[in-house]
Amino acid sequence: MGTDLNEAERPVQIDLRGVSHAFEIENGAFPVLNDVSLQIRKNHFAAVVGPSGCGKSTLTRLISGLIKPVSGEIYLAGERVTSPRATVGMAFQNPVMLEWRSVLKNVILPLEIVAPKMSHKQRQERAMELLSMVSLEGFEDKRPSELSGGMKQRVSLCRALVHDPDVLILDEPFGALDAFTREELWAMMHRLRRIKPFTCLLITHDLRESVFLSDEIYVMSQRPAKIKHSVAVELGSERQLDDLYAPNVTSLLASLRSQIADPNN
Ligand SMILES: Nc1ncnc2c1ncn2[C@@H]1O[C@H](COP(=O)(O)OP(=O)(O)OP(=O)(O)O)[C@@H](O)[C@H]1O
Ligand SMILES: [Mg+2]
Repeated sequence: MGTDLNEAERPVQIDLRGVSHAFEIENGAFPVLNDVSLQIRKNHFAAVVGPSGCGKSTLTRLISGLIKPVSGEIYLAGERVTSPRATVGMAFQNPVMLEWRSVLKNVILPLEIVAPKMSHKQRQERAMELLSMVSLEGFEDKRPSELSGGMKQRVSLCRALVHDPDVLILDEPFGALDAFTREELWAMMHRLRRIKPFTCLLITHDLRESVFLSDEIYVMSQRPAKIKHSVAVELGSERQLDDLYAPNVTSLLASLRSQIADPNN
Protein backbone atom coordinates (compact mmCIF):
# COMPACT_ATOMS: atom_id res chain seq x y z
CA MET A 1 0.00 0.00 0.00
CA GLY A 2 1.23 3.50 -0.73
CA THR A 3 4.85 4.31 -1.44
CA ASP A 4 7.74 1.88 -1.45
CA LEU A 5 9.69 3.84 1.14
CA ASN A 6 10.57 1.99 4.31
CA GLU A 7 8.31 2.94 7.19
CA ALA A 8 11.07 4.76 9.04
CA GLU A 9 11.94 6.80 5.95
CA ARG A 10 8.45 8.17 5.42
CA PRO A 11 8.26 11.84 6.33
CA VAL A 12 6.31 12.86 9.40
CA GLN A 13 2.98 14.37 8.34
CA ILE A 14 1.37 15.21 11.68
CA ASP A 15 3.80 16.36 14.35
CA LEU A 16 2.75 17.50 17.82
CA ARG A 17 5.51 18.65 20.13
CA GLY A 18 4.73 19.19 23.79
CA VAL A 19 1.20 20.44 23.14
CA SER A 20 -0.77 21.60 26.17
CA HIS A 21 -4.16 23.23 26.09
CA ALA A 22 -6.58 24.75 28.58
CA PHE A 23 -9.88 26.50 28.02
CA GLU A 24 -10.58 29.81 29.71
CA ILE A 25 -13.67 29.42 31.84
CA GLU A 26 -15.34 31.64 34.43
CA ASN A 27 -13.17 30.66 37.35
CA GLY A 28 -9.85 30.29 35.54
CA ALA A 29 -8.16 27.87 33.20
CA PHE A 30 -9.64 24.42 32.56
CA PRO A 31 -6.70 22.16 31.59
CA VAL A 32 -7.49 19.63 28.86
CA LEU A 33 -4.25 18.47 27.25
CA ASN A 34 -0.97 18.10 29.09
CA ASP A 35 2.25 17.87 27.09
CA VAL A 36 1.01 15.77 24.19
CA SER A 37 3.65 14.73 21.67
CA LEU A 38 3.00 12.44 18.76
CA GLN A 39 4.29 11.93 15.25
CA ILE A 40 2.27 10.31 12.49
CA ARG A 41 4.11 9.40 9.31
CA LYS A 42 2.84 10.11 5.82
CA ASN A 43 0.10 7.72 4.70
CA HIS A 44 -0.13 6.12 8.11
CA PHE A 45 -3.47 5.57 9.76
CA ALA A 46 -3.40 6.38 13.47
CA ALA A 47 -6.21 5.97 15.98
CA VAL A 48 -6.56 7.87 19.23
CA VAL A 49 -8.61 6.28 21.97
CA GLY A 50 -9.24 7.46 25.51
CA PRO A 51 -11.87 8.13 28.15
CA SER A 52 -14.82 10.38 27.34
CA GLY A 53 -14.08 14.05 27.92
CA CYS A 54 -10.29 13.62 28.03
CA GLY A 55 -9.63 16.00 25.13
CA LYS A 56 -9.71 13.95 21.92
CA SER A 57 -11.94 16.35 19.96
CA THR A 58 -9.91 19.25 21.29
CA LEU A 59 -6.84 17.54 19.83
CA THR A 60 -8.47 17.39 16.38
CA ARG A 61 -9.41 21.07 16.53
CA LEU A 62 -5.83 21.97 17.43
CA ILE A 63 -4.37 19.91 14.57
CA SER A 64 -6.71 21.47 12.03
CA GLY A 65 -5.81 24.95 13.28
CA LEU A 66 -9.31 25.84 14.49
CA ILE A 67 -7.90 26.65 17.93
CA LYS A 68 -4.36 27.43 19.10
CA PRO A 69 -2.60 25.51 21.85
CA VAL A 70 -1.63 27.33 25.04
CA SER A 71 1.86 25.87 24.63
CA GLY A 72 3.74 23.52 22.33
CA GLU A 73 3.90 23.32 18.57
CA ILE A 74 1.94 21.58 15.84
CA TYR A 75 3.31 20.94 12.35
CA LEU A 76 1.62 19.50 9.29
CA ALA A 77 4.10 18.30 6.65
CA GLY A 78 6.78 20.36 8.40
CA GLU A 79 4.77 23.60 8.39
CA ARG A 80 3.73 25.15 11.67
CA VAL A 81 -0.04 25.29 12.09
CA THR A 82 -1.18 28.75 13.14
CA SER A 83 -4.57 29.04 11.40
CA PRO A 84 -7.20 26.73 9.82
CA ARG A 85 -5.73 24.55 7.09
CA ALA A 86 -7.19 23.68 3.70
CA THR A 87 -4.85 20.68 3.60
CA VAL A 88 -6.96 18.97 6.26
CA GLY A 89 -10.24 17.14 5.62
CA MET A 90 -12.55 16.44 8.54
CA ALA A 91 -15.56 14.24 9.20
CA PHE A 92 -17.55 13.93 12.41
CA GLN A 93 -20.06 11.66 14.12
CA ASN A 94 -23.07 13.63 12.89
CA PRO A 95 -22.43 14.86 9.37
CA VAL A 96 -23.62 18.40 8.87
CA MET A 97 -24.98 18.79 5.36
CA LEU A 98 -26.76 21.56 3.53
CA GLU A 99 -30.28 20.30 2.91
CA TRP A 100 -30.92 22.73 0.05
CA ARG A 101 -28.00 21.29 -1.91
CA SER A 102 -27.94 17.91 -3.63
CA VAL A 103 -25.54 15.18 -2.49
CA LEU A 104 -23.22 16.07 -5.38
CA LYS A 105 -23.25 19.75 -4.48
CA ASN A 106 -22.56 18.98 -0.83
CA VAL A 107 -19.48 16.97 -1.85
CA ILE A 108 -18.31 19.77 -4.15
CA LEU A 109 -18.59 22.44 -1.44
CA PRO A 110 -14.96 22.35 -0.19
CA LEU A 111 -13.70 22.70 -3.78
CA GLU A 112 -15.70 25.91 -4.17
CA ILE A 113 -13.76 27.27 -1.21
CA VAL A 114 -10.23 25.93 -1.67
CA ALA A 115 -10.11 25.53 -5.48
CA PRO A 116 -12.15 28.45 -6.86
CA LYS A 117 -10.35 28.25 -10.20
CA MET A 118 -11.24 24.62 -10.82
CA SER A 119 -13.88 24.32 -13.56
CA HIS A 120 -17.39 23.20 -12.70
CA LYS A 121 -16.88 20.11 -14.86
CA GLN A 122 -13.66 19.14 -13.06
CA ARG A 123 -15.33 19.58 -9.68
CA GLN A 124 -18.23 17.40 -10.73
CA GLU A 125 -15.93 14.71 -12.09
CA ARG A 126 -13.87 14.63 -8.91
CA ALA A 127 -16.98 14.43 -6.72
CA MET A 128 -18.54 11.71 -8.89
CA GLU A 129 -15.31 9.72 -8.79
CA LEU A 130 -15.45 9.67 -4.99
CA LEU A 131 -19.18 8.97 -4.83
CA SER A 132 -18.69 5.96 -7.07
CA MET A 133 -15.78 4.72 -4.92
CA VAL A 134 -18.19 4.58 -1.98
CA SER A 135 -20.97 2.99 -4.08
CA LEU A 136 -23.19 6.06 -4.14
CA GLU A 137 -23.44 6.65 -7.86
CA GLY A 138 -27.10 7.22 -8.68
CA PHE A 139 -27.63 9.14 -5.43
CA GLU A 140 -25.87 12.34 -6.49
CA ASP A 141 -29.09 14.27 -7.12
CA LYS A 142 -30.77 13.28 -3.85
CA ARG A 143 -31.11 15.65 -0.89
CA PRO A 144 -29.28 14.72 2.34
CA SER A 145 -32.57 13.93 4.13
CA GLU A 146 -33.29 11.21 1.54
CA LEU A 147 -30.22 9.22 2.62
CA SER A 148 -29.72 6.65 5.39
CA GLY A 149 -27.26 7.35 8.21
CA GLY A 150 -24.58 5.17 6.60
CA MET A 151 -25.06 6.88 3.23
CA LYS A 152 -24.79 10.32 4.84
CA GLN A 153 -21.56 9.30 6.49
CA ARG A 154 -20.18 8.10 3.14
CA VAL A 155 -21.10 11.45 1.59
CA SER A 156 -19.41 13.18 4.50
CA LEU A 157 -16.21 11.16 3.86
CA CYS A 158 -16.33 12.08 0.16
CA ARG A 159 -16.66 15.72 1.11
CA ALA A 160 -13.70 15.44 3.50
CA LEU A 161 -11.55 13.88 0.75
CA VAL A 162 -12.71 15.84 -2.31
CA HIS A 163 -9.96 18.46 -2.17
CA ASP A 164 -7.26 15.80 -1.79
CA PRO A 165 -6.25 16.81 1.73
CA ASP A 166 -2.84 15.76 3.05
CA VAL A 167 -4.49 14.76 6.29
CA LEU A 168 -7.90 13.29 7.04
CA ILE A 169 -9.20 13.75 10.58
CA LEU A 170 -12.12 11.59 11.61
CA ASP A 171 -13.80 12.28 14.95
CA GLU A 172 -15.95 9.24 15.74
CA PRO A 173 -17.35 9.15 12.22
CA PHE A 174 -18.99 5.74 12.58
CA GLY A 175 -20.15 6.14 16.19
CA ALA A 176 -23.82 6.64 15.41
CA LEU A 177 -24.14 3.73 12.96
CA ASP A 178 -25.35 0.19 13.54
CA ALA A 179 -22.70 -2.54 13.76
CA PHE A 180 -23.17 -3.90 10.22
CA THR A 181 -23.09 -0.48 8.55
CA ARG A 182 -20.05 0.40 10.61
CA GLU A 183 -18.21 -2.71 9.44
CA GLU A 184 -19.15 -1.94 5.83
CA LEU A 185 -17.67 1.52 6.20
CA TRP A 186 -14.48 0.11 7.75
CA ALA A 187 -14.01 -1.96 4.57
CA MET A 188 -14.73 1.15 2.52
CA MET A 189 -11.98 3.06 4.38
CA HIS A 190 -9.48 0.32 3.48
CA ARG A 191 -10.63 0.50 -0.15
CA LEU A 192 -10.29 4.29 -0.29
CA ARG A 193 -6.77 4.10 1.12
CA ARG A 194 -5.76 1.42 -1.36
CA ILE A 195 -6.98 3.55 -4.27
CA LYS A 196 -5.27 6.69 -3.02
CA PRO A 197 -3.26 6.65 0.21
CA PHE A 198 -3.69 9.44 2.76
CA THR A 199 -2.63 10.18 6.29
CA CYS A 200 -5.45 9.70 8.76
CA LEU A 201 -6.06 10.42 12.40
CA LEU A 202 -9.14 8.63 13.71
CA ILE A 203 -10.75 9.36 17.06
CA THR A 204 -12.87 6.46 18.20
CA HIS A 205 -14.44 4.79 21.21
CA ASP A 206 -14.61 1.50 19.37
CA LEU A 207 -11.44 -0.46 20.08
CA ARG A 208 -12.18 -3.05 17.38
CA GLU A 209 -12.50 -0.21 14.92
CA SER A 210 -9.16 1.23 16.03
CA VAL A 211 -7.46 -2.13 15.54
CA PHE A 212 -9.14 -2.93 12.23
CA LEU A 213 -8.33 0.41 10.64
CA SER A 214 -5.04 1.58 12.11
CA ASP A 215 -1.33 1.15 11.78
CA GLU A 216 -0.85 2.54 15.28
CA ILE A 217 -3.03 3.31 18.28
CA TYR A 218 -2.46 6.03 20.87
CA VAL A 219 -4.14 5.77 24.26
CA MET A 220 -4.88 9.01 26.07
CA SER A 221 -5.15 9.35 29.85
CA GLN A 222 -7.90 11.06 31.82
CA ARG A 223 -8.08 14.84 31.46
CA PRO A 224 -5.76 16.74 31.43
CA ALA A 225 -4.73 14.12 28.94
CA LYS A 226 -1.36 12.91 27.80
CA ILE A 227 -0.51 10.05 25.52
CA LYS A 228 0.09 7.27 28.00
CA HIS A 229 0.59 4.40 25.63
CA SER A 230 1.10 3.69 21.96
CA VAL A 231 1.01 0.40 20.09
CA ALA A 232 1.67 -0.66 16.50
CA VAL A 233 -1.00 -2.85 14.91
CA GLU A 234 0.78 -5.54 12.95
CA LEU A 235 -2.00 -6.97 10.83
CA GLY A 236 -0.73 -6.00 7.38
CA SER A 237 -2.82 -4.05 4.90
CA GLU A 238 -5.18 -6.80 3.72
CA ARG A 239 -7.41 -7.11 6.77
CA GLN A 240 -10.49 -9.23 7.26
CA LEU A 241 -13.06 -8.90 10.02
CA ASP A 242 -12.15 -12.42 11.14
CA ASP A 243 -8.69 -11.08 12.03
CA LEU A 244 -10.34 -9.38 15.00
CA TYR A 245 -10.94 -12.79 16.59
CA ALA A 246 -7.31 -13.94 16.35
CA PRO A 247 -5.76 -14.55 19.80
CA ASN A 248 -3.12 -11.80 19.42
CA VAL A 249 -5.82 -9.27 18.52
CA THR A 250 -8.07 -10.39 21.36
CA SER A 251 -5.28 -9.81 23.84
CA LEU A 252 -4.43 -6.43 22.27
CA LEU A 253 -8.09 -5.41 22.67
CA ALA A 254 -8.14 -6.56 26.29
CA SER A 255 -4.98 -4.62 27.06
CA LEU A 256 -6.30 -1.44 25.40
CA ARG A 257 -9.56 -1.77 27.30
CA SER A 258 -7.85 -2.09 30.66
CA GLN A 259 -5.57 0.87 29.97
CA ILE A 260 -8.50 3.14 29.15
CA ALA A 261 -10.47 1.97 32.16
CA ASP A 262 -7.52 2.41 34.57
CA PRO A 263 -8.77 5.19 36.91
CA ASN A 264 -5.25 5.99 38.16
CA ASN A 265 -4.14 7.72 34.99
N1 LIG B 1 -14.77 25.49 24.11
C1 LIG B 1 -14.67 24.92 25.30
N2 LIG B 1 -14.72 25.65 26.44
C2 LIG B 1 -14.61 25.07 27.65
N3 LIG B 1 -14.44 23.75 27.84
C3 LIG B 1 -14.41 22.97 26.76
C4 LIG B 1 -14.52 23.50 25.42
N4 LIG B 1 -14.43 22.48 24.53
C5 LIG B 1 -14.28 21.36 25.27
N5 LIG B 1 -14.26 21.66 26.59
C6 LIG B 1 -14.07 20.71 27.70
O1 LIG B 1 -12.83 20.07 27.48
C7 LIG B 1 -12.91 18.69 27.86
C8 LIG B 1 -12.46 17.85 26.66
O2 LIG B 1 -13.46 17.96 25.64
P1 LIG B 1 -13.36 17.11 24.29
O3 LIG B 1 -14.57 17.41 23.52
O4 LIG B 1 -12.04 17.38 23.67
O5 LIG B 1 -13.36 15.65 24.89
P2 LIG B 1 -13.44 14.24 24.10
O6 LIG B 1 -12.30 13.40 24.56
O7 LIG B 1 -13.59 14.47 22.64
O8 LIG B 1 -14.80 13.62 24.71
P3 LIG B 1 -15.81 12.57 24.02
O9 LIG B 1 -15.09 11.25 24.02
O10 LIG B 1 -16.97 12.55 24.96
O11 LIG B 1 -16.14 13.06 22.65
C9 LIG B 1 -14.32 18.44 28.30
O12 LIG B 1 -14.36 18.47 29.72
C10 LIG B 1 -15.11 19.60 27.71
O13 LIG B 1 -16.18 19.95 28.58
MG1 LIG C 1 -15.10 14.10 21.25
